[in-house]
Amino acid sequence: MEEVMKSSYLVKGGTPLTGEVEIAGAKNAALPIIAASIMTDETVVVENVPDVSDIRALLATIDSIGGHVEKIDRHTFKINGSGINRYAPVDNKYVKKIRGSYYLIGALLGKYRNAEVALPGGCDIGLRPINLHVKGFKALGADTKLISPGRIIARAARLTGAHIFMDMVSVGATINVMMAAAMAEGVTIIENAAKEPHVVDLANFLNSMGARIKGAGTDVIRIVGVDSLHGTEYSIIPDQIEAGTYMFAAAATRGDVLIRNVIPKHLECFSVKLTEIGCQIEEFDDAVRVVATGRLGTTTVKTLPYPGFPTDMQPQMTILLGLSAGTSIVTESIFESRFKYVDELTKMGAVITVEGNTAIIEGVERYMAADMEVPDLRAGAALVIAAMAADGFSELSGIHYIERGYEDFPCKLRKLGAEIQVVRTEEDRKKFHFVHGH
Ligand code: UD1
Repeated sequence: MEEVMKSSYLVKGGTPLTGEVEIAGAKNAALPIIAASIMTDETVVVENVPDVSDIRALLATIDSIGGHVEKIDRHTFKINGSGINRYAPVDNKYVKKIRGSYYLIGALLGKYRNAEVALPGGCDIGLRPINLHVKGFKALGADTKLISPGRIIARAARLTGAHIFMDMVSVGATINVMMAAAMAEGVTIIENAAKEPHVVDLANFLNSMGARIKGAGTDVIRIVGVDSLHGTEYSIIPDQIEAGTYMFAAAATRGDVLIRNVIPKHLECFSVKLTEIGCQIEEFDDAVRVVATGRLGTTTVKTLPYPGFPTDMQPQMTILLGLSAGTSIVTESIFESRFKYVDELTKMGAVITVEGNTAIIEGVERYMAADMEVPDLRAGAALVIAAMAADGFSELSGIHYIERGYEDFPCKLRKLGAEIQVVRTEEDRKKFHFVHGH
């Protein structure tokens, strides 16, 4: 692990990305789907699972509490939860690292009426409270308390359906409450629910296990609780954010990339913005092509819950607009400290002023190469885009963040013509410079 922490990406920028890239399964759908697969004693087969470190950590966590996880191939897992020790606390070195581990609370509470889970980690992009999750569990009749150090206990003699109004649109709380309610007695209505594609994917997955969930993808989700769930085979949807990241990488490097295995509808908010600033977008049944030929124009973007512009694409958007001709404005309305990467970008010559939750971006002609520290997953991917769009050599450290959510990131980029390599030693660096020139 220490070796991984010391790895960095060395990038020689300046090459437009061209070619085709295949998108993996959605990390943020895979996390709740894998957690929910322990809600039956029967075997569940999950396909199109992305091979990223957050998912490996969740699978290891399930294994550590007695679940049986069998790898069929790189992207297919058989999971059987019948051996889970319902009273054992979920607490190991993996669980605190990933945000998605909190989905085990809803899954265990629904199935066993008992969950004790160490509080989740995830990217440091602002306060990430779970009060809405707790409120939802309580409404279903669970006795929920936070105990120190950093642990949540949720227990219920009976879980009963309830009418729950979410004070804020929360992906995590919607998903967690939906899982517990799937096995509660009676009807649960979640109002002001999150509508993200991964919320819909989890509902479809649970329904394929025998759950009775309607309305996922709208503001109101209606769940009729069932006594038990059964085994299923399910393939996870493509990753909206991974696809968007490659779309913006194509645009920033003025390239021509066909992004395959996507659901174009999920990418509409990116396609609209990219078209607005001068890219050509072509949509196919399960692919989109992004072509950018010259300097792009400006726009105004505000992050919003789906179908709005996702916060997980905000850094990529800001970095792209940093190269536009003129002034753009990006407002972050979901997380309060998601502009930390701007300091790193400034090293590359970007001219961006952050005032509260708004970034005012004066586009520059080119970025300059720089050495940077990756602050979190999505900003990390965005800084790689900046490095690919810059002239010269950049080195990015802290790449374990990127590996949490992007499968084979350097490899896929190399196939598109990018000059990028994982380096660990001085020897690796010298080799990269030798191969890619000075
Ligand atoms: C999920 C995604 C993350 C994405 C985010 C918003 C996963 C594993 N992570 O995170 O990549 O950036 O959705 O699309 O899927 N909030 C509360 N109380 C709560 C829960 C949330 O106040 O109990 C607030 C948060 O601080 C934030 C907003 O609600 O301001 C939205 O957060 P939420 O949608 O819950 O994000 P996550 O599920 O943590």
